[in-house]
Amino acid sequence: MAKPSFIAVVGSANVDLTTFHDVFPRPGETIFGRKFDLGFGGKGANQAVAARLCGANVGMVAKVGSDLFGPATIGNFESQGIDATYVRIAPGVSSGVAPIFVDPSGQNRIIVVKGANDTLTPEDVDAAAPLLRKADTIIMQFEIPLRTVCHTVKFAKANGIRSIVNPAPAQPVDYQEVGAADYFIPNESEAEAITGMPVHSIDEARNCAEFLLRQGIGRVVITLGERGSLAAGPDRIDLIPAFKVQAVDTTGAGDAFIGSLAVFLSEGLPAEEALPRASLYAALSTTKVGTQKSFSKRAEFDQEWRNRVGHL
Ligand code: RIB
Repeated sequence: MAKPSFIAVVGSANVDLTTFHDVFPRPGETIFGRKFDLGFGGKGANQAVAARLCGANVGMVAKVGSDLFGPATIGNFESQGIDATYVRIAPGVSSGVAPIFVDPSGQNRIIVVKGANDTLTPEDVDAAAPLLRKADTIIMQFEIPLRTVCHTVKFAKANGIRSIVNPAPAQPVDYQEVGAADYFIPNESEAEAITGMPVHSIDEARNCAEFLLRQGIGRVVITLGERGSLAAGPDRIDLIPAFKVQAVDTTGAGDAFIGSLAVFLSEGLPAEEALPRASLYAALSTTKVGTQKSFSKRAEFDQEWRNRVGHL
């Protein structure tokens, strides 16, 4: 058994308000949904919880609002055993929230209102340096200010810590700044929005990944939903197949992928072994409703990996 790794997440925490329905209302129309789910979410928080459930020690650096959701979010981190010393309440600001709309095929559409996430500054990152310096891997997303992401990438580089940037939701990036990250992991629509290149087929994903490598990004993984993911580095490009599951809600699958990947890499697995494991961890999360509550514990994941692949 590998020694527990330490994963730090500098990122977002939201409360997710998820509705399940068959069609979308037209302008001016009111329709009935089938089901509602309220849960803790936010790409950063989800990745932190996934890493924790995979067996890592985890520290979170985030801002939450001075409303009902803020203290509840901190309580959620603590109840999961995540170090929330550097999760602070931003006075007079609402928490991040995400209305999420899930269709019958399990596909989701998300609107994020960033709220307190937008107040996480480079100074907050510097204040959290004692926690961040302990990390094997630092993960970031784009639901916090981009200057905070860039500052954290520099911090990780200066301290010899692996960094993973998940550019979600997509925004224009300065390739020089984010290119210093060890891993850049968009999904297909984010890759498309960031580069302006189409990413509908595997060949297009390959072209897009090669373009990102040419901009100086060291390693690119484009997640492609049920088609798996394309991993591109300086010397090879691999298509990592997806595992077949019965998906009911794909929300948070990308976060499950990234949080678990950080753990498998930090435990010392090479990328070509860590990526298929992250792919299965993400697929399993789509078989349950919600984000954090759909993530498997490590023992359940290991059992499923043994069943499907035959060895650990
Ligand atoms: O990736 C899923 C997450 O995106 C949700 O939890 C929502 O909060 C948004 O951040």
